[in-house]
Amino acid sequence: MILENKVAVVTGAGSGIGRATAIRLAKEGAAVAILDINEAHAVETAEMIQKEGGRALPVMTDITKREDVFAAAEKTVQAFGPLDIWVNCAGYSKIIPFLEHTDELWNRTMDINLKGCFLGCQAAVTHMNEKGGAIVNFSSESGKKGTTWYAAYCASKFAVLGLTQSVAAEFASKGIRCNAVCPGVVLTPMWDQQVADYAKKRNLKPEEVMPRFRNNIPLHRLCELKEVTDLVVFLLSDNSSYMTGQSINLTGGNTMY
Ligand SMILES: NC(=O)c1ccc[n+]([C@@H]2O[C@H](COP(=O)([O-])OP(=O)(O)OC[C@H]3O[C@@H](n4cnc5c(N)ncnc54)[C@H](O)[C@@H]3O)[C@@H](O)[C@H]2O)c1
Repeated sequence: MILENKVAVVTGAGSGIGRATAIRLAKEGAAVAILDINEAHAVETAEMIQKEGGRALPVMTDITKREDVFAAAEKTVQAFGPLDIWVNCAGYSKIIPFLEHTDELWNRTMDINLKGCFLGCQAAVTHMNEKGGAIVNFSSESGKKGTTWYAAYCASKFAVLGLTQSVAAEFASKGIRCNAVCPGVVLTPMWDQQVADYAKKRNLKPEEVMPRFRNNIPLHRLCELKEVTDLVVFLLSDNSSYMTGQSINLTGGNTMY
């Protein structure tokens, strides 16, 4: 229980990595606010945690809206006490040729992946300013390397690393650490649509997509949810007390810089 009595916020906690992270933080002893735009999914995650005896609060939140994000932070403090941890995990991803990127797609991607992360960091440091804390932002392998049919997503995830370093630098003296995680492929609902889009991009059958990934990754397998949450817990705990402003690859050796 390495996060015993900590108070945590996880955005995008209604699905995939965010859900797995919220459940893991609760297992490690934290009280967790489950922020998601999908209220039913947020409630579901909270119930999963409560069933195991953990503490969770679902808060329907659009992380692109300042008032929503700050209200969610307030609700969390009222329910559980001052914040120690904030994980910006909500995300949006679309694989599509560069010339087919519309303004709407660009803005949506930037709003959710970058502005949402910016607002989350602001709410977090506002609440942590007196006592310190730890923030983890979700970037991606695509935050380290540009790739075809992925311009908006890659641009947003590169930007998350700049945001992470800036927040880390500005608030280090306040005892607030801010690091980023850069996973490769993790099988979550995010891939439900992406498999078809990726197949189109590479001229493959949908069933050939995951085997191709596995084959190209040096460790020859996809990333497990537990491997993501292991890294997140490490970055949030005192085991990483001398690390801030870092972006850690979790790609089975696919990215090494
Ligand atoms: N799955 C992967 O292969 C992978 C790889 C690298 C990075 N990532 C990143 O990890 C994070 C989580 O990805 P995932 O695979 O779990 O995705 P997912 O699609 O399973 O979950 C994303 C969650 O974010 C929520 N969300 C979307 N817009 C929101 C908004 N405006 N306000 C609040 N919540 C919102 C969704 O409702 C959903 O519950 C994302 O930032 C993603 O870019 C994922």
